[in-house]
Amino acid sequence: MADASLLQELRGVRTATASVWFMRQAGRSLPEYRALREGTTMLDSCVRPEMAAEITVQPVRRHRVDAGIFFSDIVVPARQAGLGVEIKPGVGPVFDHPIRTEADVDALPALGDDYEAALDPIREAVRLTVAELGTTPLIGFAGAPFTVASYMVEGGPSRDHLRTRALMRSQPEVWARLAAWVSELSGRFLRAQVLAGASAVQLFDSWVGALSAEQYLAHVQQHSAAALAHVSDLPVPRLHFGVGASHLLVPMLEAGATAMGVDHRLRLDRALEMLPAGTPIQGNIDPAVLFTSEKARFAEARSVLEAGAAASGHVVNLGHGVPPDTDPQILTDLVSYLHDQDRSGQEVRPA
Ligand code: CP3
Repeated sequence: MADASLLQELRGVRTATASVWFMRQAGRSLPEYRALREGTTMLDSCVRPEMAAEITVQPVRRHRVDAGIFFSDIVVPARQAGLGVEIKPGVGPVFDHPIRTEADVDALPALGDDYEAALDPIREAVRLTVAELGTTPLIGFAGAPFTVASYMVEGGPSRDHLRTRALMRSQPEVWARLAAWVSELSGRFLRAQVLAGASAVQLFDSWVGALSAEQYLAHVQQHSAAALAHVSDLPVPRLHFGVGASHLLVPMLEAGATAMGVDHRLRLDRALEMLPAGTPIQGNIDPAVLFTSEKARFAEARSVLEAGAAASGHVVNLGHGVPPDTDPQILTDLVSYLHDQDRSGQEVRPA
């Protein structure tokens, strides 16, 4: 498993052909997912080990991607800790009781033995997945404190995360206690996945791009660092990713990541100029090309390989993730195209 090309790339060791996985590769773009999920809520499916394992493996089987991403959600840990949260289809995570005051933070459940026990279905799902995946590595993940806390504070999805950013400014100590609670929640979720067999982790800070570098450094970085520290003694690469977070690339790396994910807004060669030499990178095909022509898709794939060619290691991904209405065959063909290219965008095997 340590020899899997994708893991080598994440450790900064170049391999012969491109490695690729897609954020949101599992899920609604796959008919076999929609069939299996029928009649089960999103969050219930995450705590049914056989179902979660099968959903994780589906895109690996179909597209031949180089890693599975564990099927779960960034709010699963909060649910397992006892908070009332649901995922509303077409909307996203919605919490019963938004966390906005000191009293709300006081009332958060303690993360004791009950929480450890509530992670058992996650451990079981990871074990089943890893057994099924064989030599293909499994990437575990968690939501970073800012992104998870923003759902908790707003009560649901939000465009500008105003209440969260206001809390940070008006009651920094309340914010810090909430963010510390989430870092413990997410950190222990990450650790449970690695101890059960995940070979790498990704900390998603999807909405962190809403913050300035100053606010990030003052109020967020230490909490992301605390989450990542839960797995820093384990021999797994630690990926970190945010959307629209080009201005935070270096401070996010410095939170304790070992490799950085980059979305499609920043070319990888520019990202490499910003990052310390030797930082492995992941990204960043623009998901918009999934809705264009094959010619445009393959040209974009080549351009991404070329832009990442100077990195110590590069794993191809989409800029954000697979849109639910993507034609899955397009993803399968893109993976196969990428596997036929060498790392400088040269063809190694005629298509
Ligand atoms: O392939 C994978 O990436 C599998 C696992 C995964 C899911 N969510 C499954 C899921 C991962 C890694 C996540 C992370 C996640 N969840 C993030 C960070 C990544 C990102 O996209 O930025 C965020 C912000 C969430 C919160 C969330 N959960 C949203 C915004 C939504 C979409 C709501 C909707 O219906 O539009 C979800 C639901 C969700 N999580 C689905 C899946 C497969 C869709 C559920 C369904 O089948 O209806």
